[in-house]
This record gives sequence, structure tokens and C-alpha cells, in this order.
Amino acid sequence: MSQENSEKKKQSNPVLSEQDKKIKEKLSQIEHKIMVMSGKGGVGKSTVSINLAIGLSLQNFYVGLLDIDIHGPNVPKMLGVEKGELQRRPDGTVGPVYYSPNLKFMSVEPLLPDKDSAVMWRGPMKMSAIRQFIYDIEWGKLDYLVMDAPPGTGDEQMTIAQIIPDAYAVVVTTPQEVALLDVRKSINFCKKVGMPIIGIVENMSGMICPHCGKAIDVFKRGGGERLSEELGIPFLGKIPVDPRIVTTGDAGKPIMAMYPNSHTAEAFEKVVQNVINVTQTMALRKKEDEETAKKEE
Ligand SMILES: Nc1ncnc2c1ncn2[C@@H]1O[C@H](COP(=O)(O)OP(=O)(O)OP(=O)(O)O)[C@@H](O)[C@H]1O
Ligand SMILES: [Mg+2]
Repeated sequence: MSQENSEKKKQSNPVLSEQDKKIKEKLSQIEHKIMVMSGKGGVGKSTVSINLAIGLSLQNFYVGLLDIDIHGPNVPKMLGVEKGELQRRPDGTVGPVYYSPNLKFMSVEPLLPDKDSAVMWRGPMKMSAIRQFIYDIEWGKLDYLVMDAPPGTGDEQMTIAQIIPDAYAVVVTTPQEVALLDVRKSINFCKKVGMPIIGIVENMSGMICPHCGKAIDVFKRGGGERLSEELGIPFLGKIPVDPRIVTTGDAGKPIMAMYPNSHTAEAFEKVVQNVINVTQTMALRKKEDEETAKKEE
């Protein structure tokens, strides 16, 4: 359906236009909205999303973490929050789930009948679930909403581009060529939908051998950094391969919270700091542009 037709349909559908109003209201309470994406699966989007959200919350920002990976929701397990902790309000609506006083999250996973259930939804169902995650959840006032996307540039990413016009993207890659090829697709997607890119995170970038202390380039190193230079996109940092990321993720105790003094947690901290710097600069620029436009009126 063309954009124009879908707009017409919305205007003639009071339920959809009421939802749109609620979505706008909810989003106006959230300062920065960040979608974490990648062209390839398994490169560490969920790991980066969770540690970014925790890192921001440790700096006293109010943070929301929304798992928009409908088919493979990983956030609850990686955060160690069980289904029973999902709040049900008296009016029947749910969530969000509190990980800490200033970090809330929501995912489709706690809503499934059991943890092995497969979600078999086509595009429109996923779109309406993501819309509902925005308008029906009590996010309140947030500094950051981090959204963990599935791989690629499908329905979930397009929904975010459509309903959150001021969302930014963080693109995660591993350093090797094939992953970098897919990153270009994510970047082209962002260009097409007009979503500004905060920067690139290079995950699984080298590994420090626990025995000899020397660096081993498991998936090569530096590819993401070179790509960001070539494309003029900020480079947000490199996260090394660290077996503790797997064990802490599986145990529901993310590395930023579990080993805050480790080299890997420090690498995540740099990413967090860079995200704060870039988003604040972007917000400042936007404000200046709005003021200039007002003066010109
Ligand atoms: N830097 C790292 N060092 C070691 N293991 C890692 C690292 N980053 C991620 N992993 C592990 O790799 C696996 C995939 O990571 P993750 O789930 O974050 O990727 P993803 O991009 O979200 O995957 P999907 O595309 O399936 O959503 C997980 O088991 C995670 O613990
Ligand atoms: Mg994931």
C-alpha cells in the first residue's frame, strides 16, 4: 500500500488515529530514541543494546529498553528477568518490567504462553505489536529509549522508521568483510528512511588471550573503524571477544553489571560515553536549527 493510501486509511480509521495520538504523546516524553541494528544476525546487537542501556542507566539517565525482535526476543533472558515479574495493571494492560529503578524494559517474550512458543506473525501483526509497545506501555519520562532490532532491514525496522521519525540508529558489526558488506545495507536503509546514524560499534574485535595476555584477532580487527572513516560516520568503539559476555548473557547478568572493572566493561563504557556525546551534539544542533527556522519565519 502506498504511503498516501495508508495515511488516508488511518485518517478514516478512528482507532488508528487515536493510537497515533497516543504514540506521539508517549514519544514526546522520550528525549533520545536509538535503534540498535545490523545487516547480519548474531553480531551482538542484543549484547550491545543491553550493555548500552545498563551503561546509560548507571550514569543516572532514565532509560527504556525495548526488544523489537519479535521472533527471537533475547532481552529478558539476557537481563535475567523472569516472566512472573511482568506487571499486570488493573485495567489489563502490562509492563514495563523494571530491571533497576531507572531502567525499564519490555519484550514480547513475557507475553508468550511458554518460553519455547514461536511467534508466527506476518508484517502487519508485528507492526501493530511494536506500535502497542510504544503507546500502551507506561514508559514515562525517559532520557533514552534503546531498541534492540532483529537482523536486517525488514518490518520491525521499517515500523520504527515510520512511527518514530526522530529515531537514531547504532549499527553493530563484526570486523570481517562479509559482516561489513551487510553493514552497508543497514547504512543505506538509514539513508533511505532519513534516520540519522549515531555511529558504528565493532563487536568481537580481537581477543585478549586469558593465558598469555596477547591480542588474537579472531574475526580480524579494525574493519568497522575503517568503514566508519570511509563513510564519514562516527566510530563508537570496539568490544573485544570475551567469553564472559556469553556466560554473563546466559546467566542474565550483563557484563557491565557483573564485571564493571573489566577491560570489556571499560570498552562498553567508551561506547556509552560516545553515544551520550553524539546524541547530545545532535540534540543541540536540532535545537539550533529549530531556532534559526523560527527566526526566519
Ligand atoms: N564480544 C563478544 N564476545 C563473546 N561473545 C559475544 C560477544 N558479543 C556477543 N557475544 C555472544 O554471541 C552471541 C550472539 O550475540 P547477540 O545475541 O548479542 O547477537 P545479536 O546480533 O543480537 O543476534 P540476533 O541477530 O540473533 O539477534 C551470544 O551468545 C552472545 O553472548
Ligand atoms: Mg538479538
